[in-house]
Amino acid sequence: MKRKPGDVKVFVSSVLPSIGIDMLRKENFNVTTWNDNNPIPQDKLIENAKLCNALFCTLTAKIDAGFLNECKHLEIISQFGVGYDNINIPEATKLGIPVGNTPGVLTDATADIAFGLMIAASRKMFFMHKKIEKGEWKHFAPTSHLGMELKNKTLGIFGLGRIGIEMAKRCKGAYNMNVIYYNRKQNIEAEKLLGAKYVPFHELLAQSDVLSVHSVLSEETKGIFNKAAFEKMKPTSVFINTSRGGVHNEEDLLQALNEGKIWGAGLDVTDPEPMHKDNPLLNMENVAVLPHIGSATIEARNGMSRLAAENIIEFYKNGLIPNFVNPEVMKK
Ligand code: DGY
Repeated sequence: MKRKPGDVKVFVSSVLPSIGIDMLRKENFNVTTWNDNNPIPQDKLIENAKLCNALFCTLTAKIDAGFLNECKHLEIISQFGVGYDNINIPEATKLGIPVGNTPGVLTDATADIAFGLMIAASRKMFFMHKKIEKGEWKHFAPTSHLGMELKNKTLGIFGLGRIGIEMAKRCKGAYNMNVIYYNRKQNIEAEKLLGAKYVPFHELLAQSDVLSVHSVLSEETKGIFNKAAFEKMKPTSVFINTSRGGVHNEEDLLQALNEGKIWGAGLDVTDPEPMHKDNPLLNMENVAVLPHIGSATIEARNGMSRLAAENIIEFYKNGLIPNFVNPEVMKK
């Protein structure tokens, strides 16, 4: 890339941890930031992106074909996040726009939330907490609201990548859980590390006591956890999703819980986001819902800001993007 940092205008489309913005400014990039905590409206996103060479964005920015065709001039899009389903990657690639992301730094934080939701759902924690708030804690009740233990149970991982592996390690360490998984490709290294067994998708559904989703959202995975899938699961099973809400069908999930096709659920991601405050899932005994906080630790969010900035800095200084989503654009 011929342009020098001092000639590069970067637009940061959300309020983000300052570490990455400071890094860019230190390297002399000309940085403009969106300073409202609410997601940027699409017209403002386009208006600001048109004035810039590089876009530093996150999952609330809709980088669809319409946006990309209005902003064909963008030299790089750097996503603050490991997931990038808000960006139309095939279109960006077609237009020759490189995209970077921030894997690795939020692995532990997200696995912790998956692990926490598993315990919260199986011990009805969120529901029982609400009972205290409602003044319904009357006495010690030996037979009411009993949960389920996790020791020696089977954990099924859908998408055994970095975060899935960390979730599996936690479950093995704490509860000696037996790990099975389904991926597009077998992960031999992870199998060795965890003693995990690869199973076809229908077996993952049938055998898992806890089924935890760690895949990307793609055409292949969109709504894959639907009525038909929940019907194949154990009536005692707990469904956990910390990846993207679009991987499950939320109406089908609610129905499966109501009809006892599965026992419980823990969600850090919903469809749509934000979840409406009157959503019945929020009042169900065996359900725990969080507002997409998987990566919400100081360490993870600072790491994401740093990596997203590094993608831009390295691109302009050395022509490299350390975490490159669509490296094939370089061949163009
Ligand atoms: C990601 O990085 O994709 C998370 O969902 C947002 O923190």
